Amino acid sequence: MIAVHDRTLILGIESSCDETAAAVVRGGREVLSNIVASQHDLHQEYRGVVPEIASRAHAERILPIVDAALRDAGVELHELGAIAVGHRPGLIGSLVVGVAAAKALAWSLGVPVVGVDHIQAHLYAGLLEDGPPVEFPAIGLVVSGGHTALYRCGSPRDIRRLGATVDDAVGEAYDKAASVLGLPYPGGPGLDRLASTWSGEPGIELPVSRLDRTSLDFSFSGLKTSLLYAARGIPADPRRAHKPPPPAAPPLDDRRRAQLAAAFQRAAMDALLLKLERALDGSPDCRAVLVGGGVAANSLLRTRMEELRARRALDVRVPRLPFCIDNAAMIAGLGFHRLAANPAGDGLGLVANPRASV
Ligand code: KG4
Ligand code: ZN
Repeated sequence: MIAVHDRTLILGIESSCDETAAAVVRGGREVLSNIVASQHDLHQEYRGVVPEIASRAHAERILPIVDAALRDAGVELHELGAIAVGHRPGLIGSLVVGVAAAKALAWSLGVPVVGVDHIQAHLYAGLLEDGPPVEFPAIGLVVSGGHTALYRCGSPRDIRRLGATVDDAVGEAYDKAASVLGLPYPGGPGLDRLASTWSGEPGIELPVSRLDRTSLDFSFSGLKTSLLYAARGIPADPRRAHKPPPPAAPPLDDRRRAQLAAAFQRAAMDALLLKLERALDGSPDCRAVLVGGGVAANSLLRTRMEELRARRALDVRVPRLPFCIDNAAMIAGLGFHRLAANPAGDGLGLVANPRASV
């Protein structure tokens, strides 16, 4: 058990997917270091994360990354008040590496270890660093490669899910769409850049999923398929052999790729904003919005959030770019609040869990 105060130094560890990360955060907000080693080069040829490759790479990298985070922060191991680790949700083999490292460090230093839900940490990412404290309740929107969901947040630790994707996560749809357009994995950033080269209206309308009139769930698989058909043409249906075949798609030259990227980006963001605004309409007591996850780095999403802030006079928190992608600063930051509520931490019985807690 430690006394938790605004100078408490927490080492955060994150290894839930394909980023090995460590960070030192003081008092839950002040980020002293934030080191992220991405494995994108290892997974690129498979166009997706290969779990076995990911967990092996975490095992090789975790200790050098922790060392780098301490060095960058100018902090010695004995100065740490606690270790926070993203212990759920994620790839089990990857999570196990981070949890084992965190428990070993905590045990050897005699400090508490605290488990942090990665999704909740994404929502906390916009609250790191300076700025006035946010007023709860707030609506949370997580947009990442593995998750797309809306939450009602009573505090950083009190989070209830309002809706989630029924199929692909928005980041996953970006990665698949990018692959159709010939961009390297992970394709979100590349698709975003390609879309930005298109000026004006896309001139192609891809579907924006609504589900039903009150739903707060998302669906991105229809959008993904529409993009595929727009890029490659609609496949001929053998049951309709007597009908003329569907027209061939226009050639997928650079201009068409940029146009399709812009149309995809527009539809994806319209779908996110539609449900976010629906959630806000249903929760008039929420005057703040917390956005997090890799797709929060998206240029159009950030513009749309600025517009939302102005239009509805809301306190909208979108993390700075280094805190959008998977990182350990958000883990250490939220870990501080978990520790303040339970200074003994979770103990060495803490286990990795592939499922989210909310
Ligand atoms: O949060 P994150 O680092 O990992 C998960 O927890 O899933 O999110 C990674 C996802 C990837 O799908 C990546 O393509 C997407 O975030 N992403 C973007 C952008 N930057 C990253 N998607 C759209 N636009 C971007 N600028
Ligand atoms: Zn994430």
